Amino acid sequence: MEGLKKAAAREALKFIEDDMVVGLGTGSTTAYFIEYLGRLIMEGELEDVYGVPTSYQARLLALEKGIPVVGLDEVDAIDIAVDGADEVDPHLNLIKGRGAALTMEKIIEYRAGTFLVLVDESKLVERLGQKVPVPIEVIPAAWRAIAEEVEVFNAEAELRMASRKDGPVVTDNGNFILDVRFHRIEDPLDLEIELNNIPGVVENGIFADIADIVLVGTGEGVKKLER
Ligand code: A5P
Repeated sequence: MEGLKKAAAREALKFIEDDMVVGLGTGSTTAYFIEYLGRLIMEGELEDVYGVPTSYQARLLALEKGIPVVGLDEVDAIDIAVDGADEVDPHLNLIKGRGAALTMEKIIEYRAGTFLVLVDESKLVERLGQKVPVPIEVIPAAWRAIAEEVEVFNAEAELRMASRKDGPVVTDNGNFILDVRFHRIEDPLDLEIELNNIPGVVENGIFADIADIVLVGTGEGVKKLER
């Protein structure tokens, strides 16, 4: 899988030009993209390219690789955002948030001129929710109430626990993550909106109608899917 992720990340470089502001996604696939982009900048192949990170992971990596980093509030526009995904359906709707960075990812990717997604072929599904739960970032005090409230959607929620810290995962924004397994997601856009209507929900990991292009690393090369 690493080879397929790297191939998609390499292909993504073709979309980056001088003077662009680039949203930098989170996760293992985008990490390759950040590494390759940093190399091009350091070698002088690309000039005046700035990165807007979607997480501390992206920020630290970008700084390490030599990409000038700016905040969303310092730029007029984001030309392109590049990020991974946990699932991609045939309409290019996504589930994201395994890395708990979904809120800042959506804030930046929603506003990007082009949102480019990088995945290996294992992420393609017929229907969202087939393989992974939907992560929901919640205000900590509301986690238990929200975990019960999502049951009306025929779903079960689990509070995400940390692995190298005692207790729950705390996001870059200081919140908790509920991983919610839905029995069947009929309409991703509807569900995305309904979940965000629950008080205490900060954002959820359904990204419906946002992705413009998906580059899929496959055994037969990188395939380009467009909406
Ligand atoms: C981060 O919160 C996620 O949305 C990632 O973008 C997503 O999980 C993809 O990660 P990988 O590239 O590591 O599979």
